[in-house]
Amino acid sequence: MKAAIMGYGTIGSGVAKVLDTNRDIIKARLGEELELKYILDLRDFPGDPHEDCFVKDYKKIAQDEEVQIVVETMGGVEPAFTFVKEMLEAGKSVTTSNKALVADKGAELMEIADKHGVNFVFEAAVGGGIPIIRTLTACLTGDVIEEIDAICNGTTNYMLTNMEQFGSDYNEILAEAQALGYAEKDPTADVEGHDSCRKIAILTSLISGKTVDFNDIPTEGISKISSTDFKYAKEMGCSIKLVARSVKEGDTYSCRVAPFMIKPEQMLYHVAGVMNAVSVKGNMLGESMYYGAGAGALPTASAVVGDMVFLARNTNRQVKIGWEAEKLTLANPLEQRYRFFVRTSALQSNIENEFGNVEYASLDLDNETGFVTAEMSEAEFEERAAALGGIISVIRFY
Ligand code: HSE
Repeated sequence: MKAAIMGYGTIGSGVAKVLDTNRDIIKARLGEELELKYILDLRDFPGDPHEDCFVKDYKKIAQDEEVQIVVETMGGVEPAFTFVKEMLEAGKSVTTSNKALVADKGAELMEIADKHGVNFVFEAAVGGGIPIIRTLTACLTGDVIEEIDAICNGTTNYMLTNMEQFGSDYNEILAEAQALGYAEKDPTADVEGHDSCRKIAILTSLISGKTVDFNDIPTEGISKISSTDFKYAKEMGCSIKLVARSVKEGDTYSCRVAPFMIKPEQMLYHVAGVMNAVSVKGNMLGESMYYGAGAGALPTASAVVGDMVFLARNTNRQVKIGWEAEKLTLANPLEQRYRFFVRTSALQSNIENEFGNVEYASLDLDNETGFVTAEMSEAEFEERAAALGGIISVIRFY
């Protein structure tokens, strides 16, 4: 079984390493050798063990009938989309680790794969080494999924965990995470929640069977979270986590990505550092949680190689997962109901005028008061908070 890798960066080279290190066990499980024939990359890698495999023109792979499996680990939507499309049209099955590509073009690529009798899979696109995609599309297909709550961004979870443990402020911890290589030089996609947003869009597409446009998901990141927010959280016995949520509402889902106050009774409270976790509630299953490394070369490459074996086992058979191109209209996020933790410079009497009986979080800080509202809709909260004024920060209770 001949394969090719497009993009020899962190994950692509990790895929080659997994194939090399576990060659014998993979061969035993598959019943034949999974052999790397090409690696597409514009750069040169002199001395690399796969030096002879490198090509610079993706058409060489597309035109080679011997290659049946292609791995896309380039990242970004273009040119990855063009290359993947052409591989599928040439009758090759594809696995990708590229969440931007799957969130933007997943349903379209699946249709192209269908037309050409091949498979398009993407286990590594969400949760890195956590096998959440196959869990949802195979193991849990007997359930209606009622809710997914995920910590699915290692960078921000690492930062929040450290802010909590060391009392550091956001900018301090971001600089440290960048120095350690956890956060990228331009950290926007992670810290503003865009990465988590794409991941929950993909998961919601899979559980609903329709396509979720990630632009429709209200998304807040962690860049406004401060050490003072953590002081309040500690006082209330909570942790603050960036959670991507999707909750079934009638025939659709209600989604949000935001920092949440979480209590120790909730499993996501205990997910620390760079680790990821996805909690899934099924109507028959109840709650189950999947925990592990959400990023990193080898955990992600392990998921890609698992996909390669899956593709090799299904070269003459299409495996349908029921994700259609039709757009899913999400439930109105303004109808989501939460309790809200609020910091404001407004007077206590005004707080009570607007929000009635609230629970105060006493930190004894000058010029501000922290309180927790009763449960109310987003729309109602927005209206009352605007009337109160002086809002310093707002964090929902999970
Ligand atoms: N930047 C992502 C993270 C990598 O921090 O989790 C995996 O998608």
